Amino acid sequence: MNEDFQEVRILDNYYQTSSFFPMPVVLVSTLAEDGQTNLGPYSLCFPHMIAGGHAMMLITRSSSNTAGNIRRTGLAALNFIPARRRFLASCVRLGFPGDETAEKMKGSVFTLRTSCREMMGSTPYPQIVQESVQVFECTWDPAHDDSPSPDESHFLLRIEKIVMPKRWRDSLLAGGRFPSLPVDYGYRDDSRFWFCRHGRPFAIGLPKGKGSDASTVLYQAQRLDPDIQWEPEACAKLAGVPRLFLKQVLSGVNAEARKRGISRITPGLLDELRDKRAGEPGRR
Ligand SMILES: Cc1cc2nc3c(=O)[nH]c(=O)nc-3n(C[C@H](O)[C@H](O)[C@H](O)COP(=O)(O)O)c2cc1C
Repeated sequence: MNEDFQEVRILDNYYQTSSFFPMPVVLVSTLAEDGQTNLGPYSLCFPHMIAGGHAMMLITRSSSNTAGNIRRTGLAALNFIPARRRFLASCVRLGFPGDETAEKMKGSVFTLRTSCREMMGSTPYPQIVQESVQVFECTWDPAHDDSPSPDESHFLLRIEKIVMPKRWRDSLLAGGRFPSLPVDYGYRDDSRFWFCRHGRPFAIGLPKGKGSDASTVLYQAQRLDPDIQWEPEACAKLAGVPRLFLKQVLSGVNAEARKRGISRITPGLLDELRDKRAGEPGRR
């Protein structure tokens, strides 16, 4: 059936008033003036710099506790909580504007634990949420402030650390199960927030027969072993390896690098490994 399109008026907060816009739910932890960790739920929080610099953009009401705390301390942690009704109900309570930290945190169901940054020094950092699937620990970059009005604050949050429970890290690196993260459709009908869970993710492969390009090589290499750095020239050398075999090739190189205590893959190392393999019995 060919349905006609009808125009919708573009209102303020168009993502929840004039459309259906799927958003993440992020519990932002920041430090209140007395040092207590404040949790504020936010959905307008998206990747903003993805290559070279790694940063998230957070859009908040300027009068929120979160905005005040970020401006004062420069610190925030983005806690991605699982899609459970109990957690989302607590989020909605924590999202009631105007409550001070001590008052609102009394009703929180979340467990706070020490920041993973804190363990490496004495600087106080906001605590993080134990129940999280993953946490981005961030520092505000005030040089990129493009807040459009005194009421609306845009914070560029540079990601210093991403931490997650071991089972999710294993799954991420080995390509296993996905966590169930909530999707927020926002504050609608003037009385309720609407959330949903997503189904099991499905994969759609890229067109067959295309060789890998250097950026695919870099992406795969970082996923397989984030502790090993690949120089762009080394990635370029593997461009053209059929996608089907890329993981196997990269894993082999990473394993050899680890064995030798090397954390940086150079084109020279790839040449050396190729020559070595070519010299192995049965290779020629
Ligand atoms: C699921 C959810 C998402 C929200 N997303 C945003 C958002 O992206 N930006 C914003 O300014 N307020 C958002 N709010 C409202 C804030 O949570 C609310 O202003 C709250 O007072 C923030 O807490 P804080 O004052 O402790 O920072 C959201 C509320 C909920 C429940």
